[in-house]
Amino acid sequence: MTATLAVLISGNGSNLQAIIDAIAGGRLDARIAVVVSNRKDAFGLIRAERAGIPTRYHPLKPYRDQGKGRCEYDGDLAALLAEFRPDWIVLAGWMHIFSNAFLDHFPHRVVNLHPALPGQFPGARAIEDALAAFHRGEIRETGVMVHLVPDERVDEGPVLATRTIPIRADDTLERLSTRIHAVEHVLLVETLQGLIKKVSNENTGEGD
Ligand code: GAR
Repeated sequence: MTATLAVLISGNGSNLQAIIDAIAGGRLDARIAVVVSNRKDAFGLIRAERAGIPTRYHPLKPYRDQGKGRCEYDGDLAALLAEFRPDWIVLAGWMHIFSNAFLDHFPHRVVNLHPALPGQFPGARAIEDALAAFHRGEIRETGVMVHLVPDERVDEGPVLATRTIPIRADDTLERLSTRIHAVEHVLLVETLQGLIKKVSNENTGEGD
């Protein structure tokens, strides 16, 4: 059965593009019902529009300006997404931490991509942090993970897939980022397809 995705972005959207391309290429049994960005100038919004996917801009600032908190922001975002009845909510470069006001609406259905291995370098600067740790002699490799988001912890939760990526002595931030993104584009699609297939098999009783 074709799964319905809501994809949340904050920036370039290269991982969103990987999902769009995988669907078009028949490698991902899904449709993207909506792309949401918390940043108006996110290039991912243009990628979505080019692919004919509905987009929504959901900024935090108006909530802050009205003295409202994250919970109200998250509650409204959950309501916005619920209208599209997503099977999976995919955080593809979404730089915003969710409260339970959001997560309680979608238990076991929020999937996050993060450019580091489990337990390492949470937050928005994971690749920079890994490179700095490499230069301090603390690590020789970093990686990518896809995981479920069960609670408010940042870049943590049940791990669905990981890939290790060696760091090279001559790596710049740009070079390492390029290699990491290339791995992400494959891993995110494969992991989503695995989840979709698993749920589909469970529903049809296959694999029992
Ligand atoms: C990706 O590297 C993703 O793993 C990362 O943001 C980038 C988005 O790239 N996410 C995080 O750091 C989450 N903490 P994209 O906009 O080109 O897909």
